Amino acid sequence: MPDGQPLKLGVLVSGNGSNLQAIIERIEAGGINARIACVVSNTPEAFALTRAARHAIPAIIHENCGYANRREYDAALVEILRARGVELVILAGFMRILSEVMVQAFPNAIMNIHPALLPAFAGLHAQKQALDYGVRFSGCTVHLVDCGTDTGPIILQAVVPVEQDDSEESLSARIQREEHRIFPEAVRLFCDGKIRVEGRQVRILP
Ligand code: GRF
Repeated sequence: MPDGQPLKLGVLVSGNGSNLQAIIERIEAGGINARIACVVSNTPEAFALTRAARHAIPAIIHENCGYANRREYDAALVEILRARGVELVILAGFMRILSEVMVQAFPNAIMNIHPALLPAFAGLHAQKQALDYGVRFSGCTVHLVDCGTDTGPIILQAVVPVEQDDSEESLSARIQREEHRIFPEAVRLFCDGKIRVEGRQVRILP
């Protein structure tokens, strides 16, 4: 936990990286006592890699192929992160489910953002699930990662309205504005040692 030194973050990505960008900007503005030790992408095509390069953040491509199963992939991922001293792992649009190999290597130190109000609409296409169900409100959830899919203890949530004429794109855009606010905030709380996990509950210390 914090001793004044910036916490070392490892950010895992697969796509656009707008959440990565939001976290980078909050760190650069002095709002989070952390340093991104590395960005890891499971695909060379992720625009998040360009974002990392623009900010001189080391980036590694750790592709899916060549591993017999999820556990083997994750064991190599643990090595990559440990070699760089990573203390908090951030899943910023990382399109892989982690095995217990990663979860046990970083207990209560992996954070994910999900584009719905968990426990509603876990899994893929959460915005479409919300639209299809007909809810009036959706949002996003930052949570710690356990061995289930989107089941870990909840740190922060934000609510957005669902409009009658929303498309998946328009709802996603509204949710993303909130993601870019609460994800960096959850990272800040963690880095400041303000998060205490008590079973399923996350207590945020004053
Ligand atoms: C976000 O919508 C997040 O909720 C989900 O993946 C998306 C990542 O977006 N887990 P980006 O790559 O950060 O722009």
